[in-house]
Amino acid sequence: MKLQGKKALITGGNSGIGLATAELFIREGALVAITGRDQKTLDEALALLGPSARAYRADVTDAEARSTLFAALGKEFGKLDIVFANAGISARTPAGTTDEAVFQKVIQVNLVGAFLTVNSAVPLLNDGASLIFNGSVHNYLGQPGLAAYAATKGGLVSMARAIAADLAPRGIRVNVIAPGATKTPIWRRGPHAKHSPEELGAAAAKVASMIPLGRWGEASDIANTALFLASDDSAYITAIELTVDGGATGAPYGAPILGLR
Ligand SMILES: NC(=O)c1ccc[n+]([C@@H]2O[C@H](COP(=O)([O-])OP(=O)(O)OC[C@H]3O[C@@H](n4cnc5c(N)ncnc54)[C@H](OP(=O)(O)O)[C@@H]3O)[C@@H](O)[C@H]2O)c1
Repeated sequence: MKLQGKKALITGGNSGIGLATAELFIREGALVAITGRDQKTLDEALALLGPSARAYRADVTDAEARSTLFAALGKEFGKLDIVFANAGISARTPAGTTDEAVFQKVIQVNLVGAFLTVNSAVPLLNDGASLIFNGSVHNYLGQPGLAAYAATKGGLVSMARAIAADLAPRGIRVNVIAPGATKTPIWRRGPHAKHSPEELGAAAAKVASMIPLGRWGEASDIANTALFLASDDSAYITAIELTVDGGATGAPYGAPILGLR
């Protein structure tokens, strides 16, 4: 087991990538704290994950919730070895028509919330710990309507490099995963919630045809990458962004839809 005796915090651990990562970390021997805002999915996740999990209801944008969370973690976990700052949202923010509050919200959750989570976590970290941010290929891909989301995911990468420099003296590694399109509930939330199952199915097939490996990512693909970055397998890796996207950013001309292969 790669994480025997390790203690991990996963924000947004009650759904999608965070939940798949919590399952894998527990299988690998870790004690895992998950957070989220929705008590129902937190309870369901806890039932699924079993006795090596703890669930805390905490919004990453809420200072009081954060301070209660880290006080509880200090008491119940003592120290942490792994933090996966994974919580995130998507929203449409097209230039010219975007409501300021919507733009600010995406930045607050995805970027500010991620920093403040790590900021609160650092005093609890063991030397040699691993911090992982969940970025996105939207750091690279210009897509209409995604200015705020793309800015947060690019911001995480530059922020992670600076934090890696902060924490290198303690042997703490700081890395970013950049997932491509991954099958999770995020695709049924926010801007996608208004689409019918048929529309979503057609869009999903189109997205798959834009990926050289010809399929969407699974949450488990990203969880496996988080395990790599959390474990000693990546002991000499810090300040990187690891793209997990079936080749969508690195080899876009290999996508089936272009018919060039
Ligand atoms: N799926 C993809 O295609 C994809 C691609 C690239 C990057 N990502 C990134 O992967 C991360 C996880 O997303 P996912 O795909 O697994 O989607 P998801 O299933 O919607 O999960 C998002 C998680 O974030 C939590 N969350 C959202 N706002 C929060 C807040 N203010 N405070 C605390 N928790 C909050 C949600 O919990 P509650 O519902 O309880 O609030 C949920 O657990 C995100 O950062 C996303 O940007 C996803």
